[in-house]
Amino acid sequence: MKFLENVSLKEYNTFGIDVKARRMVVVEPRDFLGFAPPAVGGQWLDPQGKNLVLGAGSDVVFTRDYEGIVVLLANFHYSFSYMEQSLISAWGGMSMDSLVRWAVEYGFYGLENLSAIPGTVGAAVVQNVGAYGVEAKDVVERVVAYDMEQHRTCTFSNADCQFSYRDSMFKHHPGRYLLLRVFFRFSPTYTPNLSYKALEALPHDTAKEMRDSITALRWQKLPRPEEHGSAGSFFKNPMVDETIYNRIKAEYPDMPEAHKTADGYKLSAGWLIDKAGWKGKTLGRVGVWPQNALVLYNTGGCTGSEVVAMADAIVADIESKFGITLTPEAIII
Ligand code: EPU
Repeated sequence: MKFLENVSLKEYNTFGIDVKARRMVVVEPRDFLGFAPPAVGGQWLDPQGKNLVLGAGSDVVFTRDYEGIVVLLANFHYSFSYMEQSLISAWGGMSMDSLVRWAVEYGFYGLENLSAIPGTVGAAVVQNVGAYGVEAKDVVERVVAYDMEQHRTCTFSNADCQFSYRDSMFKHHPGRYLLLRVFFRFSPTYTPNLSYKALEALPHDTAKEMRDSITALRWQKLPRPEEHGSAGSFFKNPMVDETIYNRIKAEYPDMPEAHKTADGYKLSAGWLIDKAGWKGKTLGRVGVWPQNALVLYNTGGCTGSEVVAMADAIVADIESKFGITLTPEAIII
């Protein structure tokens, strides 16, 4: 466990927003394992419960300095991955993409469609990340977390996690759970998941080919992190009822096919924002990515308030043009 004070968070959020944390604690697997681990008891936490768990910071927008304690999971690569009863487990602070790469390489199949997702394994669970036909909820078996209120570790089954679209129970208890270890189901045989139509036309005969195709596809639509900060998809795709869907479809026959679920029709936020003319626009030091209207990016030195101002302007415009309220996928702090 490492304690730091007055730390710039610029390197700890993928938007690259320069705010400070009053205190930061960097934790490692060994802090929670073994006999009488130092983490137990929680004396290292903020006495008022102002704790913020940060993974790779790929889904957060900081609008001000953080006054409590930022808990950062050190990025341990392979050291915590192993196999147990048809499950692979990984340390919550491991990069999700390293885990996927490792799984593909060693023949643990089922995660390959989640290739190139930024962020940590723990964050993938909290956000129920999803891409190209697979969501975290489809592959997570159970999660071991440290409860920072009760000061003990506990295990959550897939059902306990209450997954829904880009959401989980953990997201509703910010600062309470530190996701230490995630167990994923895998298949020993590779069956390509082609539910995302564009994949059919791309190489996918092996899991490695699928991973490479998906990685290339993602990077066509997202800014390079070393060039421009962003948080990936900024908004969730909105769910609407049949009446709204039919109204918009009648007005815009070119709208992409909506995904019908039990909760309604999931429209494409990127298409709505694009249709409203936002692609490539900037407001202050925040831009709408020219290759994907769902992505807001830092044109250089932007603040969290500028990101929020851009997001608010887009939300208001989409409301007035389509009568739909977009909600951010990114967490605003
Ligand atoms: N579209 C446009 N203009 C745009 C962006 C999209 O017309 O500027 C259209 C596309 O042509 C397509 C439709 O909108 O017909 C949907 O676009 P896409 O397939 O790229 O997927 P998405 O709905 O924009 C979602 C996830 C992504 C995930 C992809 C692929 C959300 C909020 N986003 O994006 O996840 O990678 O599907 O499965 O659910 C993320 O959450 O950070 C993320 C990148």
